[in-house]
Amino acid sequence: MEIAAVTVDSSFLVLRAAGVAFILDLAGNLPRVVHWGADLGPLDDDAVSALRLTAVPSSSNYAIDEPRTFPVWPTEHDGWAGTPAISGHIGGGASTPRPRLRGSSRSVDANGASSIRLEVIDDITGLSADLTYTLDQAGVLVVDMSLTRGVDGLDGAPYVLDALRAMLPVPDRASELLDFTGGWAHERSAQRFAPGHGTHLRRGRRGKPGHDSPFLMALGTAGFGFRDGELWAVHLAWSGDTEYLAERLPEGAGAFSAALGASEALRGGEVLLHKGERYEAPRAMFVWSDAGLDGLADRLHRRLRSRARHPSSPRPLTLNTWEAVYFDHDIPRLRRLAQTAADVGVERLVLDDGWFHGRRHDGAGLGDWYVDAEIWPDGLWPLVDLVRERGMQFGLWVEPEMVSPDSDLAREHPEWLLSPREGLPISARRQYVLDLAHPEAYATVRDRLSVLIDEYKIDFVKWDHNRDLLEAVAHREGVDRPAVHAQTRALYRLLDELRLRYPALEIETCAGGGGRIDLGILDRAERLWASDTNDPVERVRIERWTRMLVPPEMIGSHLGTDRAHTTSRTTDLAFRLTTALTAHAGIEMDLSRATTSDLDAIRRWSAVYRELRGLIHSGRVVNADLSDASTRLTGIVGQDGARAVFTWTRLTSSPERDVGRIRWPGLDPGARYRVRTREEWGRPASTAVMDPPWVQDARDGGVDLPGAVLAVAGVPMPELSPQQSAVFDLRRII
Ligand code: GLA
Repeated sequence: MEIAAVTVDSSFLVLRAAGVAFILDLAGNLPRVVHWGADLGPLDDDAVSALRLTAVPSSSNYAIDEPRTFPVWPTEHDGWAGTPAISGHIGGGASTPRPRLRGSSRSVDANGASSIRLEVIDDITGLSADLTYTLDQAGVLVVDMSLTRGVDGLDGAPYVLDALRAMLPVPDRASELLDFTGGWAHERSAQRFAPGHGTHLRRGRRGKPGHDSPFLMALGTAGFGFRDGELWAVHLAWSGDTEYLAERLPEGAGAFSAALGASEALRGGEVLLHKGERYEAPRAMFVWSDAGLDGLADRLHRRLRSRARHPSSPRPLTLNTWEAVYFDHDIPRLRRLAQTAADVGVERLVLDDGWFHGRRHDGAGLGDWYVDAEIWPDGLWPLVDLVRERGMQFGLWVEPEMVSPDSDLAREHPEWLLSPREGLPISARRQYVLDLAHPEAYATVRDRLSVLIDEYKIDFVKWDHNRDLLEAVAHREGVDRPAVHAQTRALYRLLDELRLRYPALEIETCAGGGGRIDLGILDRAERLWASDTNDPVERVRIERWTRMLVPPEMIGSHLGTDRAHTTSRTTDLAFRLTTALTAHAGIEMDLSRATTSDLDAIRRWSAVYRELRGLIHSGRVVNADLSDASTRLTGIVGQDGARAVFTWTRLTSSPERDVGRIRWPGLDPGARYRVRTREEWGRPASTAVMDPPWVQDARDGGVDLPGAVLAVAGVPMPELSPQQSAVFDLRRII
């Protein structure tokens, strides 16, 4: 619904939702950001003029001769000497655009989210741009931008787009930065520091966000925690090359202190715009919170959960065969595994890598998406039939964007591989990348996947991507052109097409674990594989940070073997089960070799998972700020506050044996709760002679505690041994 077209010099454009306000002043060449943060309430004329008056900083000596502004699209034309919102050129010229506003409008969509749309033009480059700022019902500010080339350059030369960045200014108190790095089996490792002047730039050139993806870049007030502090964060919903930046110049950013931004990281010459051609930037999401990191996560979770296709059916307990059997696709062994899985309550079995033509090891077969006739002479039926008989769903692993050199596909179509003309790029995991934007390669993969999905009525696909894209160029019209942008768009097209064709099909995004987790692919996937490590000590950390962006129902978490394959660390069954409980739970060990008592424990745990998943998969995630970094208190509190589940975890030993009363976040101080432990799958080991009396009561049938004691005064916690976790189930009784 179009509300009003606002002329350039009228006044302010204001978006308000969920305690957030975003205010633009339209006066000037380009609208400038007056405010992004806490809601200022309805603005009367007085407030508008005060905001306008105070949007102008002092004019410094030895500086531009006009007051500095930070417009929606900062460039040198406004005196901004930092990273510009747009960079590019036409044959070496037209590199200093002078964008100006042509028109603006406001609208409200069917979900109640209001948007400001700005039309920007630039005579120097001949570009026009659409910038849309949408503040959704969760308070997430979504920035969509596109560029269209209106006129041809000299001699028909294209505009070479180097970057188109979504940037917003943040105030001086946003002085501490948090973002993430990592590696295989060690995703989402937080890094935090107080940046000085300069640019903190995270440029990803892996053809996907990567295990070291910045993921979410946040600037916050000094010492911000999970529960406290004011934060401004950005995420780029894009599964290709990404760039995140936080930049602070000595002169500030208009009336603000620094800039926060994100964009696709384009390769040289990757996007060339001829007359009439259009570039659509990936969506950037800006999130503000005055309730710490949990407040940020809550907004993002609310946004995701309001999507029409957000997974809402009970998340099936999943068994994945990878660490259970690896490439040993021995049918009797797999059938035994499936039987035992069904016996303990598994609801979905996923056949991982190793089922397709020639795939005896990870050096062959990718690209040949046919069931291997040697190991599966009767097709996948001996397993699929059993899975269905036992009432389970069936899932299959694929890695459609990859090709093994030892495959029929590579032998028949070497031209379908992304590669410079001079020869193949360096291999990784002994594989190369399929040029998915090549129409025939695309159609081949799509059609093979469709045949498999149709034949076996596949419910779920684990979609993997096991290498970085290096020297990823494609042959187009006699030239090797950078291909990551086109590859990412082709991937989205393929996923969209399959999802349209198979509306019930669920997809899991995996890239050697958590190498491709972003809200672009997660618009097309119901589950993510957070990491290849099933070591619960690592998982506690990885999943805590993954939950900053994504709610628990989308995060796959599996029970692995006692000695973790990725770290060789040995942990108790009960700890591993508890860790997998508070996500989309699964199992990834050879159950057919488990002891009877272990299977009994797993069966009891799976019943508790089914009991609690409605809460875990819809509640608010809360994290306590604790002084002892070796402990965690994490909860999921029902949206109506009637029920909550908390886990109290000790990862390693520490000199802090007991820190006394700890507050439980997210509970209502005015309520009263019945608290009981959940230990059906095993009691956590403790170093104490005796647990606190309230814990003993919680174990003996439950204890009633006022919310004020739990949430405000705090309670002493059990002294757990390292690598142990206790689960508390809370019901509100008043
Ligand atoms: C990747 C995935 C694993 C598994 C293997 C199979 O490493 O992350 O979970 O599927 O591939 O080769």
